[in-house]
Amino acid sequence: MPQIIGVPKETAAGEKRVATVPEVVEKLIKLGFKVAVESGAGDAANCSDDAYRAAGAQIVDSAAKLWAAADIVFKVSVPTAEEVGLMHAGQTLITFIWPAQNPELMQQLAARKVTVLAIDSLPRMRSRAQKMDALTSQAGVAGYRAVIEAANAFGRFFNGQITAAGKVPPAKVFIAGAGVAGLAAIGTAAGLGAIVRANDTRAEVADQVVSLGGEFVKVDYEEEGSGGGGYAKVMSEGFQKAQREMYAKQAREVDIIITTALIPGKPAPRLITAEMVQSMKPGSVIVDMAAERGGNCELTEPGKVVVKHGVTIVGYTDLTSRLAKQSSTLYATNLFRLTEELCKTKDGVINVNMDDDAIRGLTVIKEGNITWPPPPLKLPAPPAKPAAMPAKAPKHGEASAPASATRTAVMFGIAALAFWFVGANAPAAFLGHFTVFVLAVFVGYMVVWNVTPALHTPLMSVTNAISSIIAIGALVQIAPPLLGGATARPEAWIHWLAWVGIALTAINMFGGFAVTQRMLQMFRK
Ligand code: NAI
Repeated sequence: MPQIIGVPKETAAGEKRVATVPEVVEKLIKLGFKVAVESGAGDAANCSDDAYRAAGAQIVDSAAKLWAAADIVFKVSVPTAEEVGLMHAGQTLITFIWPAQNPELMQQLAARKVTVLAIDSLPRMRSRAQKMDALTSQAGVAGYRAVIEAANAFGRFFNGQITAAGKVPPAKVFIAGAGVAGLAAIGTAAGLGAIVRANDTRAEVADQVVSLGGEFVKVDYEEEGSGGGGYAKVMSEGFQKAQREMYAKQAREVDIIITTALIPGKPAPRLITAEMVQSMKPGSVIVDMAAERGGNCELTEPGKVVVKHGVTIVGYTDLTSRLAKQSSTLYATNLFRLTEELCKTKDGVINVNMDDDAIRGLTVIKEGNITWPPPPLKLPAPPAKPAAMPAKAPKHGEASAPASATRTAVMFGIAALAFWFVGANAPAAFLGHFTVFVLAVFVGYMVVWNVTPALHTPLMSVTNAISSIIAIGALVQIAPPLLGGATARPEAWIHWLAWVGIALTAINMFGGFAVTQRMLQMFRK
């Protein structure tokens, strides 16, 4: 019997998102599920009842009927007491829960004997869980929207322009915190043509800032800002003082500040003081994306736009909801990817497999039993500094050195014997070519294996450029004999083919070096 996925209309004030969109309904049906959507659930996200119906969903006219019919409920915001009251034993709820902040809600849900998957509790296991990571998809939307809000409140262009009416300087934007939201904001602001600077306590993000078109501004104080798992920690007093000095300088110089700094389980760090706001140019804008968690700016009022000391401070807490169609589509795709993981058999029935690390992390209540917090995960540490990697590449086979020493010796012995055999029997001309070939394989192997994987792409592009050495063959064909060209004039078709060859290898050569140069720049500080 296929299970029914129910999507109610969100009831939280101002929530415009919806947990699934028509395009995703089709995919859920292909997985074997039936989908029921409450009438009007997608209205605020531009998804009409008709669009859901056309995608194969059934439209249900009341929340009560929907919750009663659904085996699995997809939601966006934390369920209200009324919604919990509508749940029945055996049902599965997938939504944002924030279990650490909502212990009472957890008790109420457990009492209903339901299973709850908190999308916010997904372990951030890099590539493996990324497709289901709604925190990331929503933070990306919020970062983009923060720039749009800033542009809306700012009275000038973002890009510099020279017009008949005068010269317009580009806007200067400073982004505090370069996590997912901060990086999205950097990319958006740089795309609009602003000069973008950013700071984060985790030095490892510096390269990402630069690759998105921003400039990383360092705090003049040595302290590691990573608190594990890719997240930040509370910094020492000394660091905070140095950081305040740097932020005060930025505040005086820039036109727009977008703050995104958060530390898991802690109030948002206070980075922008009232004096800094006062020092900003009139007409400047601050968008405080940490408003809900206490704000990074002292003068932020959560949920509101206020003007203080001539500076507009945007404290919206619903930035994702302000781009409802986009955030709903991404969220729906995250939930679809999760459903795929829960229903590997594609028969429309989910299996909450607690042996799977990602599912275990998400499952905060299993059949009425609170299973949060999950046991600690052995997560690989985030890559420290991509720029520092070249020197640190592990040598191939290094770990098992003593055991493999005899094996290597035997292999070399066999290879030497084979080489002797070929040398004794093959024609002399073949032997010369063969030696070059063996040496080339050996050198190529040593080069590639000693380069850290992060640098394999620039390595490939540079070897690609070097391989353009074949241009010499073509040059020999078309050059006059005096310059070392072929003594007899080649046939016309060879001549033209050589020209084409030169043109193509020139692209390969110059393009290869240009690409390598650009890539290596991404790794440079
Ligand atoms: P977040 O929302 O908790 O924090 C935002 C940013 O604020 C972070 O970059 C943090 O370092 C920074 N910050 C904190 N205190 C600060 C201070 N005093 N001054 C300046 N900056 C400060 O973090 P978010 O954006 O959710 O993710 C952070 C990291 O998590 C990512 O960069 C990545 O390494 C990791 N991650 C891993 C994912 C995966 O494995 N699938 C997915 C998303 C993120």
